Amino acid sequence: METVLSGMRPTGNLHLGNYYGAARSFVKMQDEYNCYFFIADWHSLTTHPKPEDIQRSARTILAEYLACGIDPEKATIYIQSDVPETIELYLYLNMNCYLGELERVTTFKEKARQQPDNVNAGLLTYPTLMAADILQHRAAKVPVGKDQEQNMEMARRCARRFNNIYGVEFFPEPQNYYFGETAIKVPGLDGTGKMGKSNGNCIYLFEDEKSIRKKVMRAVTDNGPQAMNSPKPEVIQNLFTLMQIVSAKDTYDYFDSKWNDCTLRYGDMKKQLAEDIVQTLAPIRERIIEISSDQEGLDRIARLGAEKARESARKTLNEVRRIIGFKVY
Ligand code: ADP
Ligand code: TRP
Repeated sequence: METVLSGMRPTGNLHLGNYYGAARSFVKMQDEYNCYFFIADWHSLTTHPKPEDIQRSARTILAEYLACGIDPEKATIYIQSDVPETIELYLYLNMNCYLGELERVTTFKEKARQQPDNVNAGLLTYPTLMAADILQHRAAKVPVGKDQEQNMEMARRCARRFNNIYGVEFFPEPQNYYFGETAIKVPGLDGTGKMGKSNGNCIYLFEDEKSIRKKVMRAVTDNGPQAMNSPKPEVIQNLFTLMQIVSAKDTYDYFDSKWNDCTLRYGDMKKQLAEDIVQTLAPIRERIIEISSDQEGLDRIARLGAEKARESARKTLNEVRRIIGFKVY
């Protein structure tokens, strides 16, 4: 069975975009692959988070992942910093990565622009740590968004270079994995193309009913359809895209035909959309509350996940040490 790995930095609560774009796909994958899902808390250190926030944010996102349906019996779920083996592989891989290529990574350049007073070496070697995350389980597939393409290219280069330098066929070159339906992009409610934490336009999985309804009712719209069967401007298309994602097909078709014959009232459509989002998220929210109330259970899951991940990482690392010429413990 092929191995799949993916990770997410614990930078806030999960939102509808994370759910439809990532978490829901993971849930589907866990039945078909040997899956590792992890919380990339070391990666979040590049922005120097407060020590008191580290444990809490990892636990929060762990509970939210589980509430989406990721099953610790099927997939290995762990927290990156619980698997120190990663760091040793990160060191070896860093020896084969070059300053020029790391400096050319777009995400590095962007971050360097965003935080000019903190262009640290961890930021520069972010892609090597990501490669270590992936290669330590010799993962073949990595479900990530388009923004991670360059990091994935570095991971493939790390694998290829290691194999070439030592004349082995040890690491598979990990491939980006997109679902058939994955090109799904959940739009924001503010007329922008993408729901995202940094855009401040999210509906969070944990959000309560009142707050969801308020946000949807405030979504940006225009003056309404002006001519029969006219194309939808982006802000309106966003509402329809959201409806396509969360509502029943009949509901979507009903409002679509109202748009086409110019009888659509945005208030009605928003009310329905809010209702469908509330219905979709209610069971997830309930599970988040239930799962978060059992911190011991969460600790147990994280511990078990770390054990499984460490076992897999140690196996790889022993081989790597042997290939490089070090003692194997
Ligand atoms: P954010 O953009 O809110 O910071 P992340 O970059 O942490 O989210 O993304 C985590 C995962 O969720 C990635 O796999 C990404 O592709 C997916 N994702 C984030 N926002 C969306 C969205 N609006 N639509 C679809 N997928 C998304
Ligand atoms: N860089 C990813 C992000 O910002 C998170 C991540 C870290 C990751 N290590 C990974 C994703 C390994 C996939 C595989 O979203």
